[in-house]
Amino acid sequence: MDNQKALEYWKNLSKTPDLTQQSVKVNKINNHYKEDANFILRFTDKNTDILDLAAGSGGALNLYYNKINFVLAVEKFKEFSNFIVRADNVAIINADIKDFDTNKKFDLVLLFGVMQFFNEQESKQIYTKCKKFLQKERGESKLLIKQQFGLKEDVFVEYSNELKQRYFSTYRHIDKEIELLKNAGFKTISKFDIYDKKANRWDNTHFYALVCE
Ligand SMILES: C[S@@+](CC[C@H](N)C(=O)[O-])C[C@H]1O[C@@H](n2cnc3c(N)ncnc32)[C@H](O)[C@@H]1O
Repeated sequence: MDNQKALEYWKNLSKTPDLTQQSVKVNKINNHYKEDANFILRFTDKNTDILDLAAGSGGALNLYYNKINFVLAVEKFKEFSNFIVRADNVAIINADIKDFDTNKKFDLVLLFGVMQFFNEQESKQIYTKCKKFLQKERGESKLLIKQQFGLKEDVFVEYSNELKQRYFSTYRHIDKEIELLKNAGFKTISKFDIYDKKANRWDNTHFYALVCE
């Protein structure tokens, strides 16, 4: 699996009629936007600048943007980012996060619900780039990641029974992801179990948030 394969699903979805903000949620049952926003806000104050990579339709962003200084949302598909709030402190760029680059520095970089769509090599490149985006001067800059990870081994998905279509995703083992992040230069990685038990519907994967410094 590589991101190109995973993007088949997102591209097709972006072209479907009657999109809503919730369309980018693969699991339509649970909604974690509030928990995500509350978790993000634990690491912010009114001066915080955020880079939200693969921001989707802004489900969490629309809940946290008015409590921080600035957020730059990067999302490949305009059809999804159309749902992101328009405000003076919100900027939106429609770009592939593999190609996206900037000299601007941020206090927080977010990768929520997206790294399962990249293979290890692609992920290492993205994590290395994220290090460069982080602000050194303020000393407390962090990369936050949230998604499902494999519990016993890597879990590969090529077809979704729920979606009834090809759907490429790789839930790497949580320890492997932590190692990958260390190899990309992050020194401290803390793991948080941020959702209610019932959010974890599969016994071989688990949602975690990782705080990387
Ligand atoms: C499950 S959604 C998560 C969206 C948002 N971060 C959230 O938590 O609600 C995954 C998003 O990743 C985006 N995506 C996947 N690959 C991408 C890439 N290479 N560049 C930019 N966006 C990408 C998809 O378009 C989709 O909006």
